[in-house]
Amino acid sequence: MENSAIFLLQSLAAIHLTMTLFMYLVAVVIILIYPLYLYLTKPLNRIKRHGDLGYFFGTPELAGKHRDQQIERLKRIRMKGDLPPVYPNGWYCIAESPQLAPKQILPVVVFGEQLSLIRSEDGSAHLIDSYCPHLGANFNVGGRVVDNNCVQCPFHGWVFSAESGSCTRIPYNDGTIPEQARVTVWPVVERNKHIYVWFDADGSAPEWEIPVIEDILNGQWTYKGRTEHEVACHVQEIPENGADIAHLGYLHLAGAPVGNDVIRIDLSDRFPSITHQWDGNWNPSTKDKHMSKMHLEQVMKFHGFEIPLSSSKLDAIQIGPGIVHMHLDFGNLGKGIVLHHVTPEEPLFQRARFVMYSNLPRWFAKFFMLSEANQFERDVYVWSNKRYVKNPLLVKNDGPIGKHRRWYSQFYSDSSPRLLPDGSLSNRAKSALEW
Ligand code: FES
Ligand SMILES: [Fe+2]
Repeated sequence: MENSAIFLLQSLAAIHLTMTLFMYLVAVVIILIYPLYLYLTKPLNRIKRHGDLGYFFGTPELAGKHRDQQIERLKRIRMKGDLPPVYPNGWYCIAESPQLAPKQILPVVVFGEQLSLIRSEDGSAHLIDSYCPHLGANFNVGGRVVDNNCVQCPFHGWVFSAESGSCTRIPYNDGTIPEQARVTVWPVVERNKHIYVWFDADGSAPEWEIPVIEDILNGQWTYKGRTEHEVACHVQEIPENGADIAHLGYLHLAGAPVGNDVIRIDLSDRFPSITHQWDGNWNPSTKDKHMSKMHLEQVMKFHGFEIPLSSSKLDAIQIGPGIVHMHLDFGNLGKGIVLHHVTPEEPLFQRARFVMYSNLPRWFAKFFMLSEANQFERDVYVWSNKRYVKNPLLVKNDGPIGKHRRWYSQFYSDSSPRLLPDGSLSNRAKSALEW
């Protein structure tokens, strides 16, 4: 009797101990796995500023102010080449819609101009020159959105309509409002949860529209992350990459594990353990002359064996000089789009924004965006240091680079601003509504 009581107590103690250990184990697993789960499912927001990528000053690397000074020096001694005009005609992305809240003024730099992007109280977006015609204050610094869609200057309180550009109120003036009291308005459109400005060097109205992506607007495809890169090159260099087929099997051959830094990637290793195998072609659209298509098939291999879920077929539709809609199809896993935008902020300074909307699993979308950024950043190393070559030495299998240039030249006109040897522009970029 006594023995069985002891046995029972021992059994209960053992069960209690096992349960406690099990609970601890579950807690440890949750603590370890939960952050990983959060990381994998949180949309990517990868931002690389000018100087983060693409500059190398030998070993040991420069740091702090020395690095900044050397980047300035590189800019001075950079050989630019015989550049095409610097601001092609077309629509350019200036913001993602969620970045602009009602009553907000968002500073925008595009075509070398300082502009102010405004969201009215009722939600419409407007873009105006930032400098007040009265005494020159900058609306981006202290300006306010008032009277629904107007901007009030912080200096003397004048109020301008961001829709028409005209001055609607001078609070301390009881005479008439001078005729010249107006700000320049730029044509904008909000589409696919992005805001675009139209630029045309001859002041022509928009000649084509940005296609609507219904699956973004009806919520079938949801936001899956973004990347943003500042790149120091001519705007044309970035889309031209799509027609440069030969570089895919070289700069982009090695898989993501070797990283984005071309200085550290061993380009002589033709058989890295993880490789990207590419097959692509580029052609202008026969229907819409401002459009072209790059079809790309890609698969990742590990020591020659295909990695599951790594193959993709992409159609990258270029729409004008600065927009690409990259349609993704991963079969059963889902579909989606990456909206690629390249916007010239200065003659040799581009902002590249990639945003994904899809019904792909969040972890997979993140993996895709990170891999794409990794490959894109290798190009950034090249773009931010190269010169533009007007007559490249093309050989067989280089890809249709010449054809792409002829196609892209439709976005330039005789009045397109050119970069002069002294660093100034042949003519300023003007709003198409200023003519
Ligand atoms: S400078 Fe803008 S109101 Fe005077
Ligand atoms: Fe590339």
